Amino acid sequence: VGVDDACGAADKGGFPHFMLKEIHEQPSVSAVIQHRYAVEALIAESIDVDFRHVDRLRLIACGTSYYACMVAKRWFAEVAGIAADVELGSEYRYAPDITNPPREFAVLVSQSGETADTLASLEKLKSQRIGTLGIVNQQVSTLAREADYFLPLLAGPEIGVASTKAFTAQLMVLAHLAAHMAEQRGYRLAATRFRSALAKVPKLLSAVLHNEAAIIAVAERFSQATSALFVGRGALYPLALEGALKMKEISYIHAEGYAAGELKHGPIALVDENTPVVALAPSGELFAKVASNIREIAARNGRITILGDRRAILAMSDVASHALTMPITDELIQPIVAAIPLQFLAYHVAVSRGYDVDRPRNLAKSVTVE
Ligand code: G6P
Repeated sequence: VGVDDACGAADKGGFPHFMLKEIHEQPSVSAVIQHRYAVEALIAESIDVDFRHVDRLRLIACGTSYYACMVAKRWFAEVAGIAADVELGSEYRYAPDITNPPREFAVLVSQSGETADTLASLEKLKSQRIGTLGIVNQQVSTLAREADYFLPLLAGPEIGVASTKAFTAQLMVLAHLAAHMAEQRGYRLAATRFRSALAKVPKLLSAVLHNEAAIIAVAERFSQATSALFVGRGALYPLALEGALKMKEISYIHAEGYAAGELKHGPIALVDENTPVVALAPSGELFAKVASNIREIAARNGRITILGDRRAILAMSDVASHALTMPITDELIQPIVAAIPLQFLAYHVAVSRGYDVDRPRNLAKSVTVE
């Protein structure tokens, strides 16, 4: 073993890749966030905004961070009764301005704090005198410095190009932000329910990590695929997008995420016995709806892997050939818990195809040019 190898192994904490190490760090990162945001009430200390006087939020990000914003949009609506528009940095920076806009507040989310399109959006917001909050992992960064307010992700350095722990950290911080807004806006019960669900996240994430061996077996069947579909509804639709993005980024398998209800408007034409479909379908309000979409896929000989809790997996056992198991949880936090099996799946597919997971082709960790 050369010196470089030895140093590399030490940096990776004994894991073969940074990505795997970072996947495994998620329970401890979420515990740190819980402490700072729930116990030390970091948001109340950091943000001097009365959200009773905000009519609309504007959530802006790129890549995986954008999908975190899509999940958060539902939380802001459901828990805090506040509408949000989610925008890609690359689109918002060139979007037409609205005359007589509602009272807006903008939240920009970024692991690096240096993504060019997100920073250009920040400039545009500032020129319109819209208040801005940067939620950033790299505390020494342009977004952290230039936004009116700043909240740290506390995920520690993320080296793997495909974002993992920064994503679940973003979800945790956005969730606490939604609970904070809910409380200010008089939705006390919703805030309390959300906070008590969030307190359970570190333990739940540890529990999902224990399923890694079973996920390796599922990954085997993906390794020969040329195309895959990920479907979900509600707050799990963005997770379907994120699951597909992870798969594309590191395993180079063409993967698409869809809202399960949209399948019949086109993508179902792609379903055949060679196209694995991952259906995000834990128990909950929309389970019956996703279940019926899964049966439509099965009727067209699709190979279905269900991502759900034991109850959901049992209900689908006649049509799903494989399962990725997650614990039964409060529906509000399902998107956080569901992230890990999707990360493991992409990781183990990429490894079995022999790719350099930490340095995927054509991609950069931080995109500082337009
Ligand atoms: C790059 C990275 C992605 C990341 C995106 C946004 O494409 O490879 O993992 O999600 O940039 O980066 P940011 O630092 O703004 O979250």
